[in-house]
Amino acid sequence: MAKETIRDLTDAQLRGRRALVRVDFNVPMDDHGAVTDDTRMRAALPTLDALLARGTRVAVLLSHLGRPKGKPDARFSLAPVARHLATITARAVRFMPCTVGAAAVQATTAAAAGTILLMENTRFLPGEETNDDALAREMAKLGDLYVNDAFGSAHRAHASTEGVAHHLHPAVAGLLMEKELRFLGDALAQPQRPFVAILGGAKISGKIDVIDALLPKVDRLLVGGAMACTFFRAMGLETGTSLVEPDRVDMAKALLARAGAKLALPEDAVVAPSLDATSAAHPVARDGITAGDAMFDIGPRSRDLFDHEIAGAKTVVWNGPMGVFEKPPFDRGTRAVAEAMARATSAGATTIVGGGDSAAAVDAMHLADRMTHVSTGGGASLEFLEGKVLPGVAALDDRST
Ligand code: 3PG
Repeated sequence: MAKETIRDLTDAQLRGRRALVRVDFNVPMDDHGAVTDDTRMRAALPTLDALLARGTRVAVLLSHLGRPKGKPDARFSLAPVARHLATITARAVRFMPCTVGAAAVQATTAAAAGTILLMENTRFLPGEETNDDALAREMAKLGDLYVNDAFGSAHRAHASTEGVAHHLHPAVAGLLMEKELRFLGDALAQPQRPFVAILGGAKISGKIDVIDALLPKVDRLLVGGAMACTFFRAMGLETGTSLVEPDRVDMAKALLARAGAKLALPEDAVVAPSLDATSAAHPVARDGITAGDAMFDIGPRSRDLFDHEIAGAKTVVWNGPMGVFEKPPFDRGTRAVAEAMARATSAGATTIVGGGDSAAAVDAMHLADRMTHVSTGGGASLEFLEGKVLPGVAALDDRST
């Protein structure tokens, strides 16, 4: 069922109101408290601008940062994030060192019209992650309507992402949330074919559900990253010291049988005795990995194969790097996939990068704007691709028509 978005709200529903907006400002920071990647923050600005431009009096923002375990921890304060926010918007930004309670509510009513008010980290409160109903009710007092724009946190049923939506209406999606659901949803529901999915990353265990969910939908499923090694082991191949999940080998065997020709594994690998032995890195056929070597990337033949598959696709969804892309020369497989996707976009294909590591890789390669969509959600986009209901979305108001 489609969800209401801020675009469904009338001006009368917004004018003079306090919008409580759940954003995902869980952004990486350096040791000095400087935000090192503000993609998620910039992605939330269109919603804040739209709300304030349409007469919303104040945008009250809730977010988590890190995993502070239900109590205040200065290392995870959102104060530096508020300072950064003030540098990327022309609007007035204020930070509140508390999240809920009388002082917090007072700040929302006293803030000058047009202000963005960022409250302290929701995870400083023990009830956030347990989705405590009393806390959700406290949060609901911070606004006159609720907007969830935190796609990256929508797979969490927490007080600020799910519980609060039961106590504050209208409860609608923001523009970023809407965009994420549209791109990921359309790709799965009505893909232009051929539809190719590329999965990578270290562990098959975290990707089993997504493989299962995607197999019936895609025309081709390309698997790279260390998780390919668990499949190699299932095929009876030597995997040396590569990362293999021994307890998933049977599962990989069953998947191979079920997937048939749809599933394409790397034909070769770039191996080395260790991650630091970069000068010893060399390509070998997948049946040529020796006992002393580990696979750290897909090899040149696999790059060509994956490039060819992507070039012929009309819809491409990618989640997970092909190798240890942070460490050249093991970045070449991931780079090849990103570049092939960029070319496919130019040729008219819809290309979608799931968040997390693959989004970081595309960003580092300066190819993000060559993709149709780069998701801001890591775990959330994976759960969406698995076909799971995201609690933060489910709790929002249904659209009546
Ligand atoms: C993310 O970075 O994926 C989201 O902000 C969710 O964070 P979490 O995994 O700590 O819940």
